Amino acid sequence: MEITAHSKPIDVFNRWMDEARAQSDIREPVAMALATQSPDGGLHNRVVLCKSWSDQGFTFFTNYLSAKGRELAHHPFAGAVFYWDPLLRQVRISGRVEKVPEKDSQEYWRLRPRDSQLSQYISRQSEEVSSREELERLKAEAEREFEGREVPCPKHWGGYILLPQSIEFWVGQPGRLHDRFVFEKSEKAWTFRRLYP
Ligand SMILES: Cc1cc2nc3c(=O)[nH]c(=O)nc-3n(C[C@H](O)[C@H](O)[C@H](O)COP(=O)(O)O)c2cc1C
Repeated sequence: MEITAHSKPIDVFNRWMDEARAQSDIREPVAMALATQSPDGGLHNRVVLCKSWSDQGFTFFTNYLSAKGRELAHHPFAGAVFYWDPLLRQVRISGRVEKVPEKDSQEYWRLRPRDSQLSQYISRQSEEVSSREELERLKAEAEREFEGREVPCPKHWGGYILLPQSIEFWVGQPGRLHDRFVFEKSEKAWTFRRLYP
């Protein structure tokens, strides 16, 4: 698929994601590195799973009280990178981040395996925990507490949507003469440029 000024970035992304998902040697095609900024200007990066995407944005789920959640509350902007090594393709996205509506987070929570719900229910993500045993003890306690009923979605757990201001597609080429195409949002349209690699 040729990428041109007439391409819609989400169409290119969909095609690339389909091709990444078809690769048996890519274990987590939806994994993206997500960079956020702390109040002191420090930059922090970690991998999250992008659970849905559309021309509106890219959604991931996490703990709103985690380090990333606190950083996004302070500075609601992020940069994300997908890299699919067997395809030699990279996608970079940057833009503003917003929480998704609570009902969407709850809907997604209900689809999650119970085991994941329990682990997330007891997690004070990014805080210090004394030991592995403590984690297991808390989970076993939650298992007993919610036996026979649904594990509720904690108030501090939910989704964010990264609203792309720019999306760059990179394709590795022989001799390092790679291809780079960047789409930037201006008003309602996308501008397109090919960049030096
Ligand atoms: C493959 C992979 C997928 C992950 N997916 C998520 C995710 O979807 N949500 C999440 O909160 N953390 C996810 N994590 C853990 C994060 O990388 C990170 O350790 C955690 O969110 C705490 O980050 P923070 O302290 O910067 O907030 C994932 C890690 C890996 C390696």
